[in-house]
Amino acid sequence: MDLPISPEAVSALLDWYRANARDLPWRRTSDPYRIWVSEIMLQQTRVEAVKPYYERFLAAFPTLPDLAAAPEERLLKLWEGLGYYSRARNLQKAARAVVEQYGGEMPADEGLLRKLPGIGDYTAGAIASIAFGIPAPAVDGNVLRVLSRFCGSCADISLPETKKMWNQLLRPVIPENAGAFNQSLIELGATVCLPNGEPLCASCPLASSCVALRDGKTDALPIKAAQKPRRIERLTVLLIRDGNRTALHQRPPKGLLAGLYELPNLPGHLSPEELPDRIREMGFEPLRITPLEPAKHIFTHIEWQMIAYAVKISPAFDGYHEKSGYQLVPDDDLRLHYAIPSAFSAYKKYFG
Ligand code: ADE
Repeated sequence: MDLPISPEAVSALLDWYRANARDLPWRRTSDPYRIWVSEIMLQQTRVEAVKPYYERFLAAFPTLPDLAAAPEERLLKLWEGLGYYSRARNLQKAARAVVEQYGGEMPADEGLLRKLPGIGDYTAGAIASIAFGIPAPAVDGNVLRVLSRFCGSCADISLPETKKMWNQLLRPVIPENAGAFNQSLIELGATVCLPNGEPLCASCPLASSCVALRDGKTDALPIKAAQKPRRIERLTVLLIRDGNRTALHQRPPKGLLAGLYELPNLPGHLSPEELPDRIREMGFEPLRITPLEPAKHIFTHIEWQMIAYAVKISPAFDGYHEKSGYQLVPDDDLRLHYAIPSAFSAYKKYFG
């Protein structure tokens, strides 16, 4: 099988990366723990969004054992707004496994890394190559786009087999400087070989041998099968407050936003007349109900269409709401200790 990228193209890529790599916080360290944290945060999340989270997270947990020992509540508060919270929980699970199995040092082995919670082929390859210089491929969405265009490949990049194919094809190409090579492909995809018909081919170090550019196919590639449309869920969100406390509800331990705290909500778009009985079932006595603005939140597979009401309640006296799974949280506590998912961001301004 021909190599997908010639040695000359690999050199051009490495030269380009040396001259053009963005100065990012996780590129100023060789600490495998820090590189791992960055790679987990960067999954499905833009570099600019990750930067402040990365700095705060590592200020709070400077070493892997610090993360392993942290209370989950603190971890989730630091992740608040970044989304995909199972990433944070898996990070901690894996940190605990590394403390138990490897004395707190990340293993310098692609296969052992892949066995840790939350670390798949891409992340194992990224950590192995960037932190340890191991010649492992790290094929993410950016890299799939670059490779598909460069080689003129019509393989559907939404299929796991396609990722597997590129992993196999890339392995013999990886030079000694594996971390720089993988990051050069990621960087090229993020800054030059842009999606949605906007590649900046005039700035590309691979332009002279790019099949898609030669054949006028940069708009058509990569091929990605159409995703199923998102399921729409209508919700009625309740901002239930008694003076200086807000009602929260803990979500079930499995599924969307598992175990996180949320504003109380009910399925469907309910009218003000339908609410008082439902609010009493939660254990609260409504005094006044005022409509708030609607809001939307898009998850990977689901879209929430929310309407909302502010509900003033009389101070709770019998603790019934706690039995029904709701709690009234004082404003300071809410601000400092509870991670409320971004889906509810539109209503955070009404917290005290
Ligand atoms: N996305 C995933 N990994 C990255 C890295 N190391 N640098 C920039 N963007 C990335």
